[in-house]
Amino acid sequence: MAVKAYDLTGRTAFVTGAASGIGRACAVLLAQAGATVHGADRDAQGLHETATLIKDQGGTARTHHLDVTDHGQVRRAVASCERLDVMAAVAGIMHSSPVLETRDEDLDRVLAVNFKGVLYACQEAARLMLARDNGGSIITMASGAVDIGGPGLLCYGAAKAAVVQLTKTLATEVGRYGIRVNAVAPGWIRTPMTDRHDAGAQAHTEARMSRLSPLGRVGEPEDIAHTVLHLASDASAFTTGQILRPNGGTTMPW
Ligand SMILES: NC(=O)c1ccc[n+]([C@@H]2O[C@H](COP(=O)([O-])OP(=O)(O)OC[C@H]3O[C@@H](n4cnc5c(N)ncnc54)[C@H](O)[C@@H]3O)[C@@H](O)[C@H]2O)c1
Repeated sequence: MAVKAYDLTGRTAFVTGAASGIGRACAVLLAQAGATVHGADRDAQGLHETATLIKDQGGTARTHHLDVTDHGQVRRAVASCERLDVMAAVAGIMHSSPVLETRDEDLDRVLAVNFKGVLYACQEAARLMLARDNGGSIITMASGAVDIGGPGLLCYGAAKAAVVQLTKTLATEVGRYGIRVNAVAPGWIRTPMTDRHDAGAQAHTEARMSRLSPLGRVGEPEDIAHTVLHLASDASAFTTGQILRPNGGTTMPW
């Protein structure tokens, strides 16, 4: 018998970054839990593949081909949902450059996608949840980068730190309306974002990351999707303003 607290039947979820990696895994798992899933991404082909995966398993999926940095596109896509119970703002990009070589345009681009894109999704989701007065769960995608420094992490880490601040601030502002807001800060997860495009380099990186974890392995997109499902569902009804860290224990000094 399934655990009822994780049942999303009758609920609607919106997932940005749904065309690939963690976003796709979230979209598929939320649909498996019973939610109608609206997937959004700038990658139309990947989005179509995710929707097909969901439909092939008997789920319900809608797609929105959009750029999360365009507030108008995000507003229209979210407003097209009849109701909204879950927003998972997952879309993001990686950028690495030393502080002294970082250009204004690098910082602007990463902040636009990884922070403003998440902000727009959160704002529009909260507005619709408030208008329908049905509460809801908003989940943002931070990163283990918020806990550690590292060479090249300036733009990416700054944007993710801003996402954490957004998460905590919004949680305090909408909690009284039954809307919960939490962040997920994954460790190293095997997705196209972390693909080194070279088998030797990939094996080397994965071996290094695995050694950092007491579990002795790197993460898979499904590991993060299960954390997102927990936050999306009634199982986390008393959890808000938190950062959950599915990272295989890599941030412990063990
Ligand atoms: N993979 C990791 O190790 C890891 C670790 C920590 C956090 N994260 C975060 O998880 C999220 C998902 O990453 P992933 O590893 O699945 O990467 P991914 O590259 O596989 O997926 C990212 C998705 O976001 C979409 N996207 C990017 N910019 C967009 C835009 N402007 N508008 C619409 N869609 C856009 C891409 O098309 C892609 O489908 C990101 O926010 C990332 O920062 C990933």
